[in-house]
Amino acid sequence: MSPADVDRGPLSADPDVPERKAEESLRPQNLGEMIGQNRLRENLSVFVEAARSRGESLDHLLFYGPPGLGKTSLARIVANEMGARFHATSGPAIERPGDLAALLSNVEEGEVLFIDEIHRLSASVEEILYPGMEDFHLDVLIGEGPSARSIRLDLPRFTLVGATTRAGLLTSPLRDRFGWSARLEFYPVEDLERIVLRSGVLLSIDLEPEAAREIAQRSRGTPRIANRLLRRVRDFVEVGDGRGRPVKVDAARHALERLEVDSVGFDSLDRALLGSLIEKFDGGPVGLETLAAAVGEDKGTLEDVVEPFLIHHGFLDRTPRGRVATSRALEFWRSR
Ligand SMILES: Nc1ncnc2c1ncn2[C@@H]1O[C@H](COP(=O)(O)OP(=O)(O)O)[C@@H](O)[C@H]1O
Ligand SMILES: [Mg+2]
Repeated sequence: MSPADVDRGPLSADPDVPERKAEESLRPQNLGEMIGQNRLRENLSVFVEAARSRGESLDHLLFYGPPGLGKTSLARIVANEMGARFHATSGPAIERPGDLAALLSNVEEGEVLFIDEIHRLSASVEEILYPGMEDFHLDVLIGEGPSARSIRLDLPRFTLVGATTRAGLLTSPLRDRFGWSARLEFYPVEDLERIVLRSGVLLSIDLEPEAAREIAQRSRGTPRIANRLLRRVRDFVEVGDGRGRPVKVDAARHALERLEVDSVGFDSLDRALLGSLIEKFDGGPVGLETLAAAVGEDKGTLEDVVEPFLIHHGFLDRTPRGRVATSRALEFWRSR
């Protein structure tokens, strides 16, 4: 386990390099291999099928939702299903309009350009992207000063797939240029259980079904966390005396307790936010900034990563006057 891994805890949904490598091997490659998100998958398969039968490129797509739910996997799946090449970049990596022009000059008809963290595109890049998406041409400024001139580049009909944890930060002209936007939802335990069992097969970890369920229940509704916990459970089992035998529920539970993941899957940050909201602010309402300062965490992280799961669980409400703990949250907190 790398130090970064320990610091951020097992529930971090933000992968570091070794985790990312492990993750690549677990990615579903097509819509059939992807588990859960049924409505999204059904819709997407219709769009793919329709585009293919017309022999056209797929319309631009936007996937949004909390980290670790499958946005990047879906972008790759779109390319695989279309039988098209996949080009990946991210909002912050495209610094100037010229960078975008260079990227797009490698993309051919029907191919997929994936822009992760698309909410972080600079305004100047976004502006030249609009006609790129809509009319498939770019107007790029060449040179500087009085000799500067604008040249128009025609683009092949490509498919832009954008992903973001913060759909609210997208400008409306950008949002409007996607043919379809889909939100990824937290996964129910049954889906996560299937994901853990599938990953177990791919990683040659022999798991008893109850052990898979235990991991699924504590994964914060998030496949990336489920896979991460599975690998940590394997570490504990291998170092203990369980090597070579199927992982039993007790062993999984023991490992998860050592990792300080509680029975609903809350991690230290979830508990810090709830604890602060309930004990310091009497359950709210309290403004996000105040709460962030009390917890000692970046407000964006609370908004993108921590709050969505608490809201999904019915523990937190966002009201015009601030964040409020629900009666369910108060009950949970008192009964801990
Ligand atoms: N529906 C799913 N079925 C199986 N595995 C999944 C699913 N969604 C996500 N995963 C796993 O979770 C990991 C994180 O998914 P990813 O697509 O990188 O999430 P995001 O881009 O939303 O942060 C992937 O490596 C993949 O193994
Ligand atoms: Mg991603």
